[in-house]
Amino acid sequence: MDGNGRWANERGLARQQGHRAGAEHIRGVLERFAEHEIPVLTLFAFSTENWGRPRTEIDYLLRLAGRTIDRELDALHEAGIRLQHIGDLDAVPDALQRKVEAAVKLTAGNDRMTVNLAFNYGGRADVVQAVRQLVADGVQPADVTEEAITCRLATADMPAPDLLVRTGGEHRISNFLVWQAAYAEYYFTPTLWPDFGPADVDAALVEFSRRRRRFGLVPGNGADGAS
Ligand code: IPE
Ligand code: MG
Repeated sequence: MDGNGRWANERGLARQQGHRAGAEHIRGVLERFAEHEIPVLTLFAFSTENWGRPRTEIDYLLRLAGRTIDRELDALHEAGIRLQHIGDLDAVPDALQRKVEAAVKLTAGNDRMTVNLAFNYGGRADVVQAVRQLVADGVQPADVTEEAITCRLATADMPAPDLLVRTGGEHRISNFLVWQAAYAEYYFTPTLWPDFGPADVDAALVEFSRRRRRFGLVPGNGADGAS
């Protein structure tokens, strides 16, 4: 969800106001993905690299995350959305940690769509912790398979992403789901996150529906999307 700072700059506002605008419209975006029956949506809200930002901005983002959960939780729950979390919550303030855990618990029985909040998440760190588990589990070298790693990632119980959307015009994944997105389709849009609305969700999904996914195979062999 990139582009909050630039959105604010363009309006002569403080970066914080861009973050706030970005958080305020999340509900409409989630609702549209749910209407399209997307089973799992992961939101990259705060990366392990974001700790390098000025302390005032970090503090604002942490408070904003808590406030957004407070404001949106009931509506999300009523809409049948299940909240999950990936990333290291130990490093965030206790109050936010408890809020996220309570939200996950409250919505655990919902099955319309899973919204997976990536907060203090880094794709490489996730692979590292999976490998640590693998070693701790005493897995022998011959048994170190892709599946053995995949099932130890924070996303173990979720499907690999089919579509990765990045707003804000940059063409990179910035340590998002680096392992999981190996065969994702990428959709880059210059639209800044606070301007990304339901119509942009539709546009991303239309573009996705036009892609022919081959997974490394050749067309005409069941892998060109025609079958
Ligand atoms: C939001 O956008 C990303 C977060 C870490 C919340 P940015 O804050 O990266 O906005 P730009 O890239 O400066 O426009
Ligand atoms: Mg940015």
